[in-house]
Amino acid sequence: MARVFSGIQPTGEIHLGNYIGALRRFVPAQDVDDCVFCIVDLHAITLPQDPETLRAKTLDLAAIYLAAGIDPNRSTLFVQSHVHEHAELAWILNCFTTVGELRRMTQIKDKSARQEDVSVSAGLFDYPVLMAADILLYRTERVPVGDDQRQHLELTRDVAMRFNARFPDTFVLPEADIPTAEGGARIMDFQNPEAKMSKSADSPQGTVKVTDPPDVLRRKVKSAVTDSGREIVFREDKPAISNLLTVYSIATGRSIPEVEAEYAGKGYGEFKDVLADALVEFLRPLQERHRELLADPGEIARLLRVGAEKARALATVTLAEVYERVGFLSRG
Ligand code: TYM
Repeated sequence: MARVFSGIQPTGEIHLGNYIGALRRFVPAQDVDDCVFCIVDLHAITLPQDPETLRAKTLDLAAIYLAAGIDPNRSTLFVQSHVHEHAELAWILNCFTTVGELRRMTQIKDKSARQEDVSVSAGLFDYPVLMAADILLYRTERVPVGDDQRQHLELTRDVAMRFNARFPDTFVLPEADIPTAEGGARIMDFQNPEAKMSKSADSPQGTVKVTDPPDVLRRKVKSAVTDSGREIVFREDKPAISNLLTVYSIATGRSIPEVEAEYAGKGYGEFKDVLADALVEFLRPLQERHRELLADPGEIARLLRVGAEKARALATVTLAEVYERVGFLSRG
């Protein structure tokens, strides 16, 4: 069994990109691997959050994980701030990461492009080091994520290698597990196929939430931007229809060539109708289960407590080893 770790931020609403690129793929991993899944609230506060909303979103994301099929008996599901070892290891790794490396990260460039430099928090700048700590704490071998996390995974490996060069065999080097483009590595905004679907984007019509009711799903599909021409093909010069084809293929489990063949000569309108139906069916089980789970928030909180205990049992071992190696005096 390989150790698998991944995390999702409890900010905004979980959308089709999060589900297709990451969450959906966590479920079958549980059959073969030893999985640890995290709700990364420490990461969430790198941008300003309303406290009550953050608390509610944390519980809601737990319900979404469970509704998607994460089984707390087989996997470890927990909240990052419940396991203080994450913040502690991040501090150590900060001392093995250069400012130059962090400056090269594209996500900070994107996120901070919208703000004045003086208002970008040091936490946002340091975000990738905390993510490295998340992964390395659990001796993770595989990290299922979307394509936007590729550079963070590379940094995690670089930092781990640097630490291991100084203190051999401390960290396991994790591999990023990113799907192909057709497999949903980068689901694009339905209103702007040049931008990835994102929780923070100012594009409510282009962001399909996994909890959107059927009528909203249908409306978002119908109003999705399409390319010029009318061919339904997966091609680089057709980013909008390629994106819709990817979603349809994943929602129905049918290959893209098969769908292209079926819709050859048919128009965008017809394709959008079947896509809307497919999307409603694809999300229906998750939505039903999500509603049921939210009826008992006490039970979700209990599951998260158990998850945090399981996670801490693993995290304390790695952190103790790191503390010993860097030369901290034992508490005795
Ligand atoms: P977050 O919360 O932004 O996204 C959660 C997961 O969804 C994937 N994703 C997408 N995949 C395909 N198309 C999209 N449009 C799309 N948008 C998002 C992300 O790649 C991610 O897998 N830094 C992480 C959270 C994190 C983490 C970790 C992940 C913290 N520590 C350790 C893995 C391991 C993030 O912000 O994800």
